[in-house]
Amino acid sequence: MSNVRKYQFAGSILAGDLLHLSEAIRICEVAGADLLQLDICDGHFVPTISFGEEVVRRTCQVSKLPVEVHLMVSRPDDWIPRMAGMGQFRMIFHLEASHRAAGVVQAITRSGMEAGLAINPETPTSAVEPLLPYVHNICLMGIAPGFAGQKLMDTTYRRVADVRALIEKSPSSATITVDGGVKADNAAQLIEAGADILVVSSGIFQHPRPEASLKEIRTAITGAS
Ligand code: DX5
Repeated sequence: MSNVRKYQFAGSILAGDLLHLSEAIRICEVAGADLLQLDICDGHFVPTISFGEEVVRRTCQVSKLPVEVHLMVSRPDDWIPRMAGMGQFRMIFHLEASHRAAGVVQAITRSGMEAGLAINPETPTSAVEPLLPYVHNICLMGIAPGFAGQKLMDTTYRRVADVRALIEKSPSSATITVDGGVKADNAAQLIEAGADILVVSSGIFQHPRPEASLKEIRTAITGAS
């Protein structure tokens, strides 16, 4: 256990029952998630539509866990003022969705939140380097964004290690998130490669006992160390 890098789980309610959101939030809490991630899908940057600012506001009111928002939207600039002040501590947006990512980072930070930068699997990891000193988090997608329940792409481990190396040679102390496809059989290798936060959705909600799901992944990580 002692030689496992410190890590956290973010529970994503995307694969939960969206007609019973408070129950999905409760399941993430009981399962032992360290934070909640709310996935905003706009039907444009990604083909799916999930939910919007009212769900973010209500979730922040009822959640016992810190809440981060993952914007899978075109024109993230437009979303910052609408989403600010709802109680989330961090907003993650996609580098691919903006031509002025540095400005988006500034807008998020000025609104009193941490900025996170997400990149899709086909975006070179070197693309995050210029913004590393200005963001709190790099979110590496392990899948094509927009859908829960996909398989982690094998290239993800190398990408995590590459971003870890970039962070270590820069003045940045950004954390690394892996989002998509995280399960008991790949979590240890992701932590080993340098991930700090693992987002889990179907791994929780498609588990026969959702409340026990994250404990099982933790045990797998410990066992593999
Ligand atoms: C996908 C979302 C993920 C997703 C992960 O676009 O960003 O958070 O919910 O789902 P799983 O864990 O099922 O891959």
